Amino acid sequence: MVNERHSTFTIGGDIFDALYEYKLLQVLLDNIPDSIYFKDRECRFVKVNKAKAENSGTTIAEMTGKTDSDFMSSEQAARSYVDDNQVMDTGNPIINKVEKITHVNGKEIWASVSKIPWYDAEGTLQGTIGISRNVTDLIRSEDKLKEKSNQLSEMNKELERRVRQEIERRQVQEQLLIQQSKLASMGELISMIAHQWRTPLNTLALLMQDLQSACEFGEASLDYAREAADEAMGQITFMSNTINDFKNFLTPSKRKTIFDAKEAINECLSIISGLLKSAAIYVTGSTNTFGPVRVEGYPNEFKQVIMNLITNSRDSIIEKRKLLNNNTYKGHLGISLERERDHLAINVIDNGVGIGKEIKDRIFEQYFTTKADDAGTGIGLYMSKIIIEKHMGGTIEACNEACKDAGNETRKDAGNETRKDAGNETRNGNDTGNENNCGARVTIRLRLSD
Ligand SMILES: Nc1ncnc2c1ncn2[C@@H]1O[C@H](COP(=O)(O)OP(=O)(O)O)[C@@H](O)[C@H]1O
Ligand SMILES: [Mg+2]
Repeated sequence: MVNERHSTFTIGGDIFDALYEYKLLQVLLDNIPDSIYFKDRECRFVKVNKAKAENSGTTIAEMTGKTDSDFMSSEQAARSYVDDNQVMDTGNPIINKVEKITHVNGKEIWASVSKIPWYDAEGTLQGTIGISRNVTDLIRSEDKLKEKSNQLSEMNKELERRVRQEIERRQVQEQLLIQQSKLASMGELISMIAHQWRTPLNTLALLMQDLQSACEFGEASLDYAREAADEAMGQITFMSNTINDFKNFLTPSKRKTIFDAKEAINECLSIISGLLKSAAIYVTGSTNTFGPVRVEGYPNEFKQVIMNLITNSRDSIIEKRKLLNNNTYKGHLGISLERERDHLAINVIDNGVGIGKEIKDRIFEQYFTTKADDAGTGIGLYMSKIIIEKHMGGTIEACNEACKDAGNETRKDAGNETRKDAGNETRNGNDTGNENNCGARVTIRLRLSD
C-alpha cells in the first residue's frame, strides 16, 4: 500500500515507478464515486478520498484527524466504531454490509460498506480501510420490486378468491337449474301420469259398470265379484306403481352409485310410454349387450337426462308433422345401447326435424331454445351436459341422423333396391327426402363399471 511503498523505494527507477503508481492511485481516489477512507487504530481518518469528503458534506482537509461522529449521527458513528473495532480485533473483514446512513447535512442514503484491517509492511495493525458505495437507487428499486411483488401476490390471492367464488356460484346455479328443469318437466310428468292412467281408469270404469249391470240383472255371484275385485286391484296396483316411479324420478340421487343404465332407461320408457303412444310415436330399442350395463353416477339425474332427450325427440317429431302438414307422418324413436370396449354408448335417435347447421353449436347452451316461450326453456340439453360430463365424467353430443325407414313411405332410387351409401348405414328416404332434415341423434358415452 501507499505507506509500504514510501518506506521501500530508494533507487532511481523505483522512484519513477512509485510516483507513477501513486499518481494512478490518486486519479482513482479522486474520480471514483465510492467513498474510500483510511482510519487509524483510534478510528480517526488518516486519509479520505474526494467522494468521501463530498458525501460527508466537507473537504478532505477538514476530515483528516477527525472521526465518524463529526460527520454522522451519534448512533451511526457508534455502529461504525463497533464495526471498525471488530475488524481490527478479529482481523476479519466486513464485506458489503448494507446500512442506512444519515449525514450531518440530513442527507439519507443506503450504502454498501466493506471494511478490512490495515497492516503495514511489518504486519503491524495500523487501523482500517473502508470503502462505501451508494446503493440507494438499487435499494429503492428493490423496495419497489418487493412492493410490486407483494401487490402481485395480493392480486393473485384476490384472483384465486374470485375464481373460487365464481365456481361456487356456478355450482349453486347449476343445482338451481337442475331443480328448475325438474319443475319444468313436472308439467310433462303430470301429463305422463294422465296417459299412464287412462287405460286402467277406463278398465276400472268398465268393471264398475259391468258389476252394476250384473247386480241389476241378478247375475252377480260371489265368484263374479271376486274376479272383478282382483282385476280392479291389478289395475290399481299398476296405477300406484306409476306414482312410485314418478316419485322416484323426482327425488335427487344423494350419492354416486353404480347402477344399471339399461334398467334406468327402461324405467324412463315405462313412465313415458303412454305419452309417446298418444303422440303416435313408435319406439324401438336395440342393444349389442346382454344383461346389465353398469355405470357410475347419479341414477335419477341420468333418468332425467334420458327423459329430456326423449321429450326433445317427441317435440321434434311433432314439429316435423306440422312442417309437412301431415298428421299421419309416423314418428320413430330409437334407443340403442352399445358396448364399446370399456364404454357404453347410448343413442337416442328420432326422425324429427333434425338439428339445423346454424343451431348445431348452440343447442347445449343455457337458455337456448327454438321452441315457443311456453314450450321450451332451453335448459334441457345444457343440464344434460352438466350431469353427463361434469357429474358423471362422460360425454354427450348431438348430430343429424341419416334417414331411416320409420314406416313412412320408402323412396327407392330409380327402381333400385335401397342402396348402401359409401359404406354408411342404409339410407331410405321419407316424405321429405331431405337428408339434412332427417332427424337427430344424441349420443351419450359413459365409462362402464364392469
Ligand atoms: N332431437 C332433437 N331434434 C331437433 N332439435 C333438437 C333436438 N333436441 C334438441 N334440439 C334443439 O335444441 C334446442 C335446445 O334443447 P333443450 O336444451 O332441451 O331445450 P328446449 O327443449 O327447452 O328447447 C331445442 O330448442 C331444439 O332446437
Ligand atoms: Mg328439451
